[in-house]
Amino acid sequence: MKRALAMILAAVMMFALVACGETTTNNGSSGNTGDTSNTGDTGTVANKDKPLVWYNRQPSNSATGELDMTALSFNDNTYYVGFDANQGAELQGTMILDYITKAIESGTEIDRNGDGIIGYVLAVGDIGHNDSIARTRGVRSALGTAVEVDGAIDSTPVGTNVDGKSTYVKDGELTIGGTTYVVRELASQEMKNSAGATWDAATAGNAIGTWSASFGEQIDIVASNNDGMGMAMFNAWSQANGVPTFGYDANSDAVAAIANGYGGTISQHADVQAYLTLRVLRNALDGVDMDTGIGTADDAGNVLSSDVFYYDEATRSYYALNVAVTAENYQDFLDSTVTYAPVSNQLDATAHPTKNVWLNTYNAADNFLGSTYKPLLQKYDDLLNLNVEYVDGDGQTESNITNRLGNPSAYDAFAINMVKTDNAASYTGLLSQ
Ligand code: BGC
Ligand code: CA
Repeated sequence: MKRALAMILAAVMMFALVACGETTTNNGSSGNTGDTSNTGDTGTVANKDKPLVWYNRQPSNSATGELDMTALSFNDNTYYVGFDANQGAELQGTMILDYITKAIESGTEIDRNGDGIIGYVLAVGDIGHNDSIARTRGVRSALGTAVEVDGAIDSTPVGTNVDGKSTYVKDGELTIGGTTYVVRELASQEMKNSAGATWDAATAGNAIGTWSASFGEQIDIVASNNDGMGMAMFNAWSQANGVPTFGYDANSDAVAAIANGYGGTISQHADVQAYLTLRVLRNALDGVDMDTGIGTADDAGNVLSSDVFYYDEATRSYYALNVAVTAENYQDFLDSTVTYAPVSNQLDATAHPTKNVWLNTYNAADNFLGSTYKPLLQKYDDLLNLNVEYVDGDGQTESNITNRLGNPSAYDAFAINMVKTDNAASYTGLLSQ
C-alpha cells in the first residue's frame, strides 16, 4: 500500500516535471555512434550497431584466459562490466590468512587435530572462468601453497591431496606466535554437476560430505570461489563442526552467516556493477558521453568515485573494486540488494525516455546472479527508465539462451552473460544477421 502510494507520488512528480516543460537535453557528443538511438524507433538501427554490454563473464578463451577483443569491440558501443578479479582474489587470500593468524594469536585452535598441519579444502567454480581461476590463485598464493607453471600460478584442482603429494600445489609453511605450521590443500574440485552446470552449490555440498567422511578431522578451513558453494558446504558440514568457511560475493545469506561462524566473504560491489551494466547502455542510447553518471555527474546527480571502480580503455572494460566482509564490518553488508546510494537517483523520463533492453543471466540457479545481481538490476532499470526483458539460462547450453533472442529487432540494446566465456560469437552472430 505504502509502495503503491509512493509510486503514484513519483508518477505525479514526473508528470509535473514534464508539464513544467523541463527540457534537459543531451549534451555529449563523444563516445556514441550518433545516428539513432534517440528516435525511439528501434527499426532504424541495425542490430549489429545497437549498444551491447557483456557482464560477469568476460569474453575470453577459457583455456588460456586471453581476452576476446573481437567480442569486446563488436561495435562502438560495446563494453564489459565486471570487477577487478586480481585485486579481489588477493583480498580473499589475505582475508583467510588474517583470520588464521588472528585466531592463533588470540589462542583459538585452528589446527583441530593437532597434527601441526592446517588443512584446507577448496571449492572451485569453473576451471575456464578467469574470475574463478584468479580466486584459486589468490588463496594458494596467500597460504603459500601455490606452484608456478610458466610464470603463472597453477590453478588446477588437486582432487584429493591428503598425503601432500600433488604437483599442482605444494605444502606451505606459516609461523604464528612462535609455532610453525604446515599448510596443505587437502582437496579441491571443480563444482560442476553431471548436466554440466558450473559453480554448482549442490555439488559442493556433496563434495564436503565425501571429503569430511574420509578426512574430516584434518579439515581446518573451508575456502570457496563463491558464496553459493561456500554456504552449501557451511550448511552441510562446517557450521556444525565449527570450521571457518570463506566465500566470495557477499550474498545476503552468507553475510548473515558470519554471525554464526562463516569466516568471511568478499563484496565484488555488485551494486556498482549492476548500475554500470545498465548505465553504459543508457548512455549509449542517449548518445551522451560514456562517462555520464559514471565518473562525471549526470543531470540527476548520479556519479561514482574512483574508489569503487575504474575503466580500462584498452579492454573496453569497467571493473568494480572489491571489499572484504568479515566479522568486523559485516553489519554494513547485510542486504546485498540495496542500490549504491551515490547512483540511486531517478532519471527524468523526458530527457531519458524508456528504452527496451534484452538481458540474460547464464543460469537461473546461480546464487550470486539470482540473489544479488538481478535484484539490483531490477531496481536500477526503474531508475534508468529501461524496460528490461530478463531471460535466465540453464547454466549448461548457450542455445537455451540464444533461442530466446529470436527477435533482436524488438530491443534497443543488449546485456549478455554467457554460459561459457568462449561463446560470444553465438550472440554477436545473431545480432549481425
Ligand atoms: C560470481 C559467482 C558466479 C559467477 C557466475 C562470479 O563473479 O562470484 O558467484 O557464480 O560469477 O559467472
Ligand atoms: Ca590439522
